[in-house]
Amino acid sequence: MSDAVTSVGRAIGPKTRARLKAPWQVWRDAGGKISALRVVALAFLFVPVVIAVYDFNTEGFGARPLNNVIHRTGYWALIFLMTSLAVTPLRRVARLNQLVDVRRMIGVGAFVYAACHISLYVADQMFDFWKVASEIALRLYLTIGFVALIGLAALAATSTDGMVRRLGGRRWQFLHNAIYGIGLLALIHFFQQTKADVSVPTFVAGLFGWMIGYRLIVKLRKTRAEPPTWMLLALSIAIAALTFIAEAIGIGLVFNVSPLRVLQTAFDFSDIATIRPGWLVLAAGLIVTAVDLVRAYLVGPRRSFGGATAKPIR
Ligand code: HEM
Repeated sequence: MSDAVTSVGRAIGPKTRARLKAPWQVWRDAGGKISALRVVALAFLFVPVVIAVYDFNTEGFGARPLNNVIHRTGYWALIFLMTSLAVTPLRRVARLNQLVDVRRMIGVGAFVYAACHISLYVADQMFDFWKVASEIALRLYLTIGFVALIGLAALAATSTDGMVRRLGGRRWQFLHNAIYGIGLLALIHFFQQTKADVSVPTFVAGLFGWMIGYRLIVKLRKTRAEPPTWMLLALSIAIAALTFIAEAIGIGLVFNVSPLRVLQTAFDFSDIATIRPGWLVLAAGLIVTAVDLVRAYLVGPRRSFGGATAKPIR
């Protein structure tokens, strides 16, 4: 079969033509080939469904099944949002540039879970749209979740190849930088609706802080070279310390106790279940630092993926 010719005069093969005709086949790469990385990313996006089916069959969804699924979808929307933000640091640190190929898919996955989350909430309110609207207007944590959802929808809608071309690289990048604000809003929403133990939101906030800190370092260094390993180590220690301090101040304010007393409990390792999120943030940072060290050794000279002087990073 003869090759077709694109609008810019480039010849494309039948596979690429098939891919262009069927952009929904997200497991295929830009060349139309099945991509193992994309298949793994797609499987990752279905993990919450598998867990939910397993939990339902073993222990059920409790007295309020709909509320249970609202929590699950909200939680995973946030996790996938954070995962999409982790792609840039991971691909640079692990020298796996190809990871960027699945960032968009994971981001859109976050939106799909968030859309299910709000739809289930509407169902939980018996499809009383007036009540849903007034609840969103009156309850601050729902208002914040709503703004985050609108932001995610805008990013998902502009995530197609056609929209990237139409908007142009710079404008697209400017719009998609909103993901940092959306991540922050989603985190606040998570904190606000958590009634008792805020360890999980604090841990996720620490990871978010690390990812923002990493991007700031890359931007401020004004060089295309990757940040050295010692900087990743320093960042991990600084963010872990901030996580401890922020948690201590938060608990101190809510329970009217001295933050210093809360900080002292950080060194109580008697029960693994009560280990403070600051340690987990430190562990995650140290793992990334170790990956950087190993990859620098294996891959040799640091590869640059573009810094402040090159394309803006996301
Ligand atoms: C209009 C938009 C939204 C509404 C109405 C909404 C509503 C809710 C409700 C009702 C809950 C459960 C609260 C409770 O049982 O007391 C919840 C929890 C949650 N939502 Fe949302 N939400 C919205 C948007 C979002 C978005 C965009 C995200 C993340 C990207 C998100 C992430 C979460 C998380 C992480 C939880 C807690 C899950 C857990 O318990 O582990 N929400 N939300």
